[in-house]
Amino acid sequence: MRAQQLLEAFAEFKSGARPATVMHQIAKGFSEEQISLIAAYYAAQ
Ligand code: HEM
Repeated sequence: MRAQQLLEAFAEFKSGARPATVMHQIAKGFSEEQISLIAAYYAAQ
């Protein structure tokens, strides 16, 4: 997954714009810096 896709998905989970069963709660547990690091990690796989 491209970094930008994951960043957008997390922002939407955090704001509630994207319907979710668990990811809205998981997304809230990470800081913006942590989310950037996660996105970069997965984009590099
Ligand atoms: C840092 C850890 C995680 C990352 C980076 C992550 C990332 C994502 C992303 C990007 C999506 C959207 C996929 C898409 O729309 O194609 C998603 C959806 C989802 N993830 Fe995660 N996830 C994480 C942890 C978890 C965990 C621990 C669980 C379950 C316990 C989980 C369960 C789900 C579910 C069920 C969805 C579908 C949306 C929903 O119903 O909430 N994820 N995740």
